[in-house]
Amino acid sequence: MSVLFSPFRLRDVEFRNRIFVSPMCQYSSIDGMPTDWHLVHLGSRAVGGAALVCVEATGVSPEGRISPSDSGMWSPEHAAAFGRITAFVKSQGAVPAVQLAHAGRKASTSAPWLGDKPLDAASGGWQPLAPSPLAFGEGYPVPREMSREDIDEVVAQFRRAAGLSLDAGFEVLEIHMAHGYLMHEFLSPLSNRRTDEFGGAFDNRVRLPLRVAAALREIWPANRPVFVRISCTDWVEGGWDLEQSIEFCRKLKEIGIDLIDCSSGALVPYAKIPAGPGFQVPFAQEIRKRAGIPTGAVGFITRPEQAEQIVATGQADVVLLAREMLRRPYWALHAARALHADTAWPVQYERAKLK
Ligand SMILES: Cc1cc2nc3c(=O)[nH]c(=O)nc-3n(C[C@H](O)[C@H](O)[C@H](O)COP(=O)(O)O)c2cc1C
Repeated sequence: MSVLFSPFRLRDVEFRNRIFVSPMCQYSSIDGMPTDWHLVHLGSRAVGGAALVCVEATGVSPEGRISPSDSGMWSPEHAAAFGRITAFVKSQGAVPAVQLAHAGRKASTSAPWLGDKPLDAASGGWQPLAPSPLAFGEGYPVPREMSREDIDEVVAQFRRAAGLSLDAGFEVLEIHMAHGYLMHEFLSPLSNRRTDEFGGAFDNRVRLPLRVAAALREIWPANRPVFVRISCTDWVEGGWDLEQSIEFCRKLKEIGIDLIDCSSGALVPYAKIPAGPGFQVPFAQEIRKRAGIPTGAVGFITRPEQAEQIVATGQADVVLLAREMLRRPYWALHAARALHADTAWPVQYERAKLK
């Protein structure tokens, strides 16, 4: 019996298997609005048998976007545009999720194929916000240090975005607290040098991320799950690390967060990351065991047997795949065959079902 293809439940949401599509920026939105590209991109992964399909980092405000072509969730028009996508994903038996994000000091950059560089005002960019006026790296702008009003405003933006995500028909919310974006910038002592109650000691650095998590858990219906993606370590001595992550996840669990999506890095450009097959899986395993909360493993997961082993040995409850899903949108259907598990194919494609 395949564990990868066994159903999984969080609150009232049932996942048909343990394979999730990781959030991936597509840099293809217009004024934050998803386009036909998103419908086809996300829709085909739902057709491809994944249990959950997560929309890319979606800005809670225009200045919270990584690039001007990121998706966003700040008006009823955004919710309506996403409604078409959530309806299709659900019609294919998958659960639609959205990753709500604020890019902090890493905002205002160009799409990868346009150079992946900071944008100045003349090129459509804006001054980013951050806990402290520290640039991400060489060539990046110095962000504006957030005032208390800015902090309250960001919490309000996350709240608004969560309400709109509900209107859009999403069943799962993921809060982006990883990869060097705003929430992670507050967590890490490398990017947070504040001297008020939002900086310094651990309890201060986690204050805003916990406030956002609590606010969204309150808004999101009690029968639907909320996930948090974190970078489990900065991979830098003196930075955010696994021990702090475990402590933070215990607090997220108390708030009612349902699953931790365990990524790492991207806070500073100079970190040395030992990337390779399954390299972040031990983080998911430790957090699951020591914080007692369901976890998702992500990073260089490409083979069905590898994914099966991760969930069957209890290292994580689910796996998230990103680049392999770009290479093989129907990865889950092929994985079922490789693992001798049965899975439903879209009826339109049944004549091609691999026996
Ligand atoms: C094109 C692309 C866009 C990405 N965008 C996001 C994003 O919006 N949010 C996020 O948390 N991670 C993002 N990531 C990271 C992936 O979700 C994933 O964590 C990472 O690629 C490692 O998984 P993989 O080895 O399966 O690709 C992106 C990755 C890729 C390749």
